[in-house]
Amino acid sequence: MTDKELINKAAEMTKKSYVPYSHFHVGAALLCSDGTVYTGCNIENSAFGVTICAERVAMFKAVSEGHTDFEKIAIMGGRNGVIEDYCPPCGSCRQVMTEFGDLEKFKILLANADGEIKEYSLNEILPLSFGKEKL
Ligand code: THU
Repeated sequence: MTDKELINKAAEMTKKSYVPYSHFHVGAALLCSDGTVYTGCNIENSAFGVTICAERVAMFKAVSEGHTDFEKIAIMGGRNGVIEDYCPPCGSCRQVMTEFGDLEKFKILLANADGEIKEYSLNEILPLSFGKEKL
């Protein structure tokens, strides 16, 4: 699975987003270390706080199927499903990533409409994180 393929899967997932309130579509594609890919889209709710992000849908799908060793995640999104700019993950999703992804090795892939790709380590986007080693 190339980075570009993972990004394309994330972009494709924005079509599945259930977003009647924000109209902001997000798709995610998570690559596990054994090569399995799990995808997710954001799913909103009339009780707004119950909304779940695309990244967490992908990660929770993976964990529920027995995969807890994550390698990278591609995230794509945009207003009304139109992808223009990079779509970085929210803080809650970053925190969930720390549970199953290595701080240095786990990578977050973002791409814009021009096909430019940015890659970050988890440590870069969530420095000074609270992880399970603290407990
Ligand atoms: N959203 C995600 O799916 N992932 C993020 O990391 C940021 C926000 C969703 C939640 C909500 O459905 C919409 O984008 C607007 O916040």
